[in-house]
Amino acid sequence: MASDTLLPMNDLAGKHIVLGLSGGIACYKAAELCRALVKEGASVQVVMTEAAEQFITPVTLQALSNRTVYGSHNASGFDARESNGMPHINLSREADAILIAPASADFMAKLLHGRADDLLSLLCLARPLDKVPLLIAPAMNREMWAHPATQRNMTQLQADGTTIFGVGSGDQACGETGDGRMLEPLELLDDVIAFFQPKRLAGQHVLVTAGPTFEAIDPVRGITNLSSGKMGFAIARAAREAGAQVTLVAGPVHLSTPRGVARINVSSAQDMFAATVAHAQHATIFIATAAVADWRPASASSHKIKKDGSGATPQLAFVENPDILAAVAKSDRAQSGKLFCVGFAAESQNLLENSQAKRLKKNVPLLVGNIGPATFGQDDNALLLVTAHGVTELARDSKLRLARKLIASFPIPTGT
Ligand code: C5P
Repeated sequence: MASDTLLPMNDLAGKHIVLGLSGGIACYKAAELCRALVKEGASVQVVMTEAAEQFITPVTLQALSNRTVYGSHNASGFDARESNGMPHINLSREADAILIAPASADFMAKLLHGRADDLLSLLCLARPLDKVPLLIAPAMNREMWAHPATQRNMTQLQADGTTIFGVGSGDQACGETGDGRMLEPLELLDDVIAFFQPKRLAGQHVLVTAGPTFEAIDPVRGITNLSSGKMGFAIARAAREAGAQVTLVAGPVHLSTPRGVARINVSSAQDMFAATVAHAQHATIFIATAAVADWRPASASSHKIKKDGSGATPQLAFVENPDILAAVAKSDRAQSGKLFCVGFAAESQNLLENSQAKRLKKNVPLLVGNIGPATFGQDDNALLLVTAHGVTELARDSKLRLARKLIASFPIPTGT
């Protein structure tokens, strides 16, 4: 599912996208994709093949894109209405990217061979390779998808510099079940947005903790806190957009996993500690955003604790939880500079002093301070980045934009 950690952000403002539709039942999803791209700030020029027009009308896409659609009436590739008569040149020069969604098996085969017998394939061939990326969202029956010809074509298209977004799995229009469905419109939207982000973290493995922990008192009760996990999920998404391999260790939260991120669900601080320490062995960057419970009940009752009617209250004893960040920051990997550790501090006052003190206490190069009550559950935040060299304020903004700024701020570790 597409990430729900964020509000619409105008992430594609200023981008001009040629959205090409080839023939397939997934054309109905292209309408929603077109709308989503426009909502995110892109201008969208739709180009449809004759086959695509069998599935959805140009009128629908014209209304959604607010532009005249190039369709079967331009099938030959010439258009007397344009001053130079060459829409394939004009369209491909204006675009920041050409996105083919859906891309049928047949259309991919055409692209592979550089055929150009309709406007869409013609403009793909005519695009300046170094300036206008070609993005493809395949859609087809599972047998067609698995066929060696399609797989071979895909490998060659990638080698030719095409970005292929992969496919979804599940029920297909033909009644069969398997791989080959076009990704959902909001998944493709996230992939397009990610495509345009700088790949600063390519080759890095980023480990993120997020959300609260839950410390059981008995099978129906426990101690937790107000962390929504949104900041950590935004950081995981931003790191993935920047090209990193990302592992997200998440406490109990109701957020969908950012695309391409490996998520490990945990409940207690001890579970989070075990999962994080294991993955820190391979990580190059660790960002601890989780609001880990400081204490847990010394022993959780295996059955529900009952009121006995006397007014007596249960006597709970607590033990301290392990400090995950401090433990990872102490490890050889972190100490030798192979693992860059980032801590968070959720404070209610004296943000600067508390953040500076916490950075030293946790022994991390970067500590990010924020005012907890002002950000819990919100889609925006304001951050204070504290290092040994000084302090940088990131003014209130959406959590995803802040996350992108945060990961652009620190040095990238070298070596593994
Ligand atoms: O000590 P405090 O909870 O204020 O520190 C906050 C920072 O330490 C956050 O980065 C949090 O994820 C991390 N932390 C942790 N394990 C704990 C407590 C905090 O990793 N047990």
